[in-house]
Amino acid sequence: MNHKFYVTTPIYYPSGRFHIGTAYTTVLADSMKQYHKLKGEDAYMLTGTDEHGQKIEKKAEEAEKTPKQYVDEMAKMAKQLWARMGIEYDDFIQTTEERHEKVVQKIFDYFMEQGDIYKGEYEGWYCIPCETFFTETQLVDGKCPDCGRDVELMKEESYFFNMKKYADRLLQYYEEHPDFIKPEYRKNEMINNFIKPGLEDLCVSRTSFDWGIKVLKDSKHVVYVWLDALTNYITALGYLSEDDTLFKKYWPADLQIVGKDIARFHLIYWPIFLMALDLPLPKTILVHNWIMMKDGKMSKSKGNVIYPETLIERYGLDSVRYFLLREMPVSQDGIFSPEAFVERYNFDLCNDLSNLLNRTVSMVNKYFEGRVPEYKGTPNEVDKELEEYAISQIEKFDEKWNHYEIANSMQEIWNLIARTNKYIDETMPWALAKEEQTEKLESCMYHLIENLRKIAILIRPFMKDTADNIFRQIGIEEEDMKNWKNLKSYNKIQDTKVIEKGEPIFMRLNAEEEVEFLKNVMKSEKQ
Ligand code: MSP
Repeated sequence: MNHKFYVTTPIYYPSGRFHIGTAYTTVLADSMKQYHKLKGEDAYMLTGTDEHGQKIEKKAEEAEKTPKQYVDEMAKMAKQLWARMGIEYDDFIQTTEERHEKVVQKIFDYFMEQGDIYKGEYEGWYCIPCETFFTETQLVDGKCPDCGRDVELMKEESYFFNMKKYADRLLQYYEEHPDFIKPEYRKNEMINNFIKPGLEDLCVSRTSFDWGIKVLKDSKHVVYVWLDALTNYITALGYLSEDDTLFKKYWPADLQIVGKDIARFHLIYWPIFLMALDLPLPKTILVHNWIMMKDGKMSKSKGNVIYPETLIERYGLDSVRYFLLREMPVSQDGIFSPEAFVERYNFDLCNDLSNLLNRTVSMVNKYFEGRVPEYKGTPNEVDKELEEYAISQIEKFDEKWNHYEIANSMQEIWNLIARTNKYIDETMPWALAKEEQTEKLESCMYHLIENLRKIAILIRPFMKDTADNIFRQIGIEEEDMKNWKNLKSYNKIQDTKVIEKGEPIFMRLNAEEEVEFLKNVMKSEKQ
């Protein structure tokens, strides 16, 4: 059966250049999509921009543009970055598009009619950069508990969503659906920090500014930006529109990926909105940590910001995608440092992967004039052990990847690379050649090429160019040999020639020079 896979990223605030940390979610979502496609499944990915709210209104004013001009330019920039990062989304939604606005109005209306939304007055604190309401007690030293910035006192007529009504249902849902929240500890955070102390009703409209979707039945109100934004995951699929084919096909989402700062909105409010609409909930919401710098959050004022474009231009796209996925543990933040980046490049990509390819291609040329020997069918003991190891690594990779332990799953691939390098040292093909042990030498070359093919398939979802480069150098052309279909088999490579002269896929960097370069770039971005 051709399974389907629908993955979403949060929609981004269009407020300037995205630094390397913000690219994490989207690179992961794209890699997930590619993985499912390579398994022969139908996969669909959504991303976009979150364009309403007071913050955007202010930014546009500062830039002397209309808000719409401003957000359109920013959305264009976002699309350019995603293209540069090899992200193949299927849809990019802007929340100022009519297809979204109309449906948000219908949803708000529906909630009013159903009695989930009531009119009241909001009095309390608001953080504009986070677009979040806080009570006095939630503030930390009088500042926003999330970002530490100043908050504003607000008093205005507002509509409220009756969250309390759904609290028990939500808890029960968490309990009955262990895969709903990943990793598990995020669920406990929600329960202990927000639900158990008593869920507050959420203010879902504003009257003190204009830049938002107007409430149909009360047009001095605009819809609160989070209610507006969260629904993008279904409006983009055509929910409540004339053509809801995509909605029928893809909802509920298989995976929604969000950063830890917006976990509360996705794990509490979003499921409650869906329950109120009587819609199924996404199968899994994955909450990831942040990519930080050694001295904390990335910020222009600290002079520690690094942009993806800088890294891609100098080191190539695949090293950046690899680094992001490899450096983010499940239970804590990942750290970007120039030293760590250069080290991963030199060790993992150059020493381990690139050298394995290079050594193999040159040996096949040397011993068999480039022709890859065919599989003999009865592997000797050493080769059999290597085969079993490869299969078990593939299974471990799959298991961890599917449980969203991304960095750990990468480690399993690199274990296979290390084992295959060690296999060369153990079998000593140069000695086999000298002793004219042709059969063993043939089997050794076959296994090296076969493992490289497997490694290329495994890295293909997140390092497409590198995988294609490996396939080209080892002479694999058929698409079925480049995807999951024949991943585990050991007898499929036939009539194949490697290229005449191997090309290094990653060249060793001068570590000192590159660290210096990156530090200088970061300083030069200081504002
Ligand atoms: N617009 C909201 C999301 C609305 S979803 C209905 C938003 N946008 S954002 O642009 O601020 O953030 C987009 C994503 O980037 C979020 O998932 C956020 O957690 C993530 N990241 C921002 N900085 C990050 C790092 N330094 N590291 C990893 N992810 C980071 O929130």
